[in-house]
Amino acid sequence: MVHYRHSYHAGNFADVFKHVLLVGLLAGLNRKDKPWCFLDTHAGAGDYDLGGEGAARTGEWREGIGRLEDAGDMAGAPELVAEYLRLVRAARGQGAPEHYPGSPQFARALARAGDRLVLCEKVPEVAAELKRSLRGDPRAEVHVRDGYEAHALLPPAEKRGLVLIDPPFERTDELDAIADLIGKSVQRFAGGIYAAWYPIKNRHLVSRCVRRVSRETGKPVLNLEFDNGEAAADEIRFASTERHKAEPSHRPGADRGRRGAPRREDASPGIVRVIEKVPMHACGLLVVNAPFGFEAASSLALQWLKPRLAQGSQASFTIEHGVAETPER
Ligand SMILES: C[S@@+](CC[C@H](N)C(=O)[O-])C[C@H]1O[C@@H](n2cnc3c(N)ncnc32)[C@H](O)[C@@H]1O
Repeated sequence: MVHYRHSYHAGNFADVFKHVLLVGLLAGLNRKDKPWCFLDTHAGAGDYDLGGEGAARTGEWREGIGRLEDAGDMAGAPELVAEYLRLVRAARGQGAPEHYPGSPQFARALARAGDRLVLCEKVPEVAAELKRSLRGDPRAEVHVRDGYEAHALLPPAEKRGLVLIDPPFERTDELDAIADLIGKSVQRFAGGIYAAWYPIKNRHLVSRCVRRVSRETGKPVLNLEFDNGEAAADEIRFASTERHKAEPSHRPGADRGRRGAPRREDASPGIVRVIEKVPMHACGLLVVNAPFGFEAASSLALQWLKPRLAQGSQASFTIEHGVAETPER
């Protein structure tokens, strides 16, 4: 079965948003000397080659990390962005010039001697790539298992830590699965920090998930969202069946990324309705038990990123406590 490959989307605007905030959460843990544990429930391959076939096919990174590298005004970048870019550049120094680090590598770069990385990846070939990318680092362990069962690995011995939940959104019930996992995890590890990434495709489902997490955990919830301002609605056109016979079917994982191949549905004899998925243009990070100072640092970072990642005048971001509402433009 063809499965979601993050290499198509690595370094895109959503990865920049997620990884800048991840750096902020890990920096919060590093404020104290006590060791922490980073549990990544959907870890991915660890390293990505932006010059490789997947990334080249979508070119998404050009509107993400590519924009920042072109920006040329890094001197005034806020602390979180500057640290994120420092880590991206340091990762490049060890690999190919078009290398982009995944979440396990950001955590590895910020981990100290006593800290620990527990990385779950369900797809065996991706888990094998992840193991290779860690180069035998004794602080990291890879579990080839379902990340939605990762609550079984909690609480960590360190009693401090961050759980990142970053699924591929191939399932229609992924937001419910996230809320379930956070609920079960908080019962075992109440003081942990939790961060879940999501694409904004259905505002109602997002709000329901945020409300559920707030209500069921009883913990402080911070919800951060970013919209790059690209047009929103799916494009629908009609065409003759003859002209579109050769078009491939919908690409798996397209909901997380840019334009997938168009989907065709019969409209009437000889005519098809061609539905083209527009790129995912907005996403969010739901954070439970955010560390002190994270909200203020994130606000500065998102303010700086907004014009640089914008795809139109409607780019926006929001930071809210508890419940996600429709973002203000
Ligand atoms: C969005 S990618 C992860 C990206 C990574 N967190 C990062 O920021 O670099 C999602 C990953 O989850 C893996 N995956 C899919 N279903 C899973 C499951 N049930 N449990 C664990 N991993 C899963 C996919 O193979 C993919 O590598």
